[in-house]
Amino acid sequence: MKKKIAILPGDGIGREIASGAASALEAVGKRFGHEFELEYANIGGAAIDSDGTPLPDSTLALAKSSDAILLGAVGGPKWDSLPSAERPERGLLAIRKELGLFANLRPIPSFQKLVQSSPLKPEIAGNVNMLIVRELTGGLYFGKPSERRGENNDVVVDTLLYTREEIERIVVKAFEFAKSRDGRLTSVDKANVLESSRMWREIVNEKAADYPEVTVDHMYVDAAAMKLISSPGQFDVIVTENLFGDILSDEASMITGSLGMLPSASLSESGLGLYEPVHGSAPDIAGQNKANPLAMILSTALMLKYSLHLREEGEAIERAVQSVLNDGFCTPDLQMEGSTIVGTDQMIKLVTERIADDVPASADEVV
Ligand code: NAD
Ligand code: IPM
Ligand code: MN
Repeated sequence: MKKKIAILPGDGIGREIASGAASALEAVGKRFGHEFELEYANIGGAAIDSDGTPLPDSTLALAKSSDAILLGAVGGPKWDSLPSAERPERGLLAIRKELGLFANLRPIPSFQKLVQSSPLKPEIAGNVNMLIVRELTGGLYFGKPSERRGENNDVVVDTLLYTREEIERIVVKAFEFAKSRDGRLTSVDKANVLESSRMWREIVNEKAADYPEVTVDHMYVDAAAMKLISSPGQFDVIVTENLFGDILSDEASMITGSLGMLPSASLSESGLGLYEPVHGSAPDIAGQNKANPLAMILSTALMLKYSLHLREEGEAIERAVQSVLNDGFCTPDLQMEGSTIVGTDQMIKLVTERIADDVPASADEVV
């Protein structure tokens, strides 16, 4: 099988971990007999520097003409003083919107070997297998107006806007995932305050009638933030709006012990998907060969499964990651007693070798 993959490394550690995706694909290609044609383009700060805009037309065109897209991360101090409309992050928001990537899947499994690296007690961190379904192209991120007003520019407006259709499609997606998993859906909102959340809740209740096999509950976002830490094992699928999903998923990363472990998939109605780690460009460690490349490598596994329908190939990557962790290798962000700390390059090499070697299956799948 021949597939064209767009790789958009972006900024900071995005550039270091992108090579992990490329190496993993090369190993999968060799072992399973596929040809992955990798084409690179700039996005974010790198694109501001090269093309004067965070999402050049050529990058968008490449993304649209590819079978799937891999993205590292965008942003960094170099571009922090730019007006918000010109920042690197605007490139990421624009590509999500342009490609209609409304459904952001953020799976959070317990990696057995990493239980000790979580700040949570082992009995709490050890039994988690949740999926956060985050709405990605609406809400506060895209609501108009969004501006400064007043004589002295001292009034600010951000608008939390959702249409019924936008809520319906993400809610249906979440019900479908819940149906194919453990059949439990938690809808997270702030319906005690926000009108948008009241409509969100109504729609979840309406759609629940089409999914009698799924148990639904509603939780306010403040309580959900607490439950994610006190009893994360209670969740199967969480569905929530854009900003709540952003915040809750970084919080949930601590179940694994590091933000560097969480992959994500952003899906559109047309079937085109973009795959990126949940974390950002980590300027504090960029260029030091310290970044954990596993979120990026696991995002590549999600891409193989969801966009290319290569389940076995995706699982081969996940098994390789599990195997490297089980043997006690980790990057500095993971605090594991008695483990061997390796750099980004070495971690990529270890995982890549094990993809080629076909390590035996372990009990737990990542998603
Ligand atoms: P961040 O996610 O980049 O980093 C937060 C902390 O987690 C840092 O201490 C960092 O060192 C650590 N970390 C993150 N990923 C890691 C990895 N793979 N391995 C080891 N440690 C890791 O968030 P931030 O510092 O708040 O933001 C930095 C920049 O990234 C900002 O410009 C922000 O806008 C951007 N950002 C981009 C994305 C994205 O491209 N999807 C996501 C979040 C933040
Ligand atoms: C993420 C990031 C982005 C978001 C930023 C960089 C725009 O935090 O992908 O989680 O808030 O969606
Ligand atoms: Mn985020």
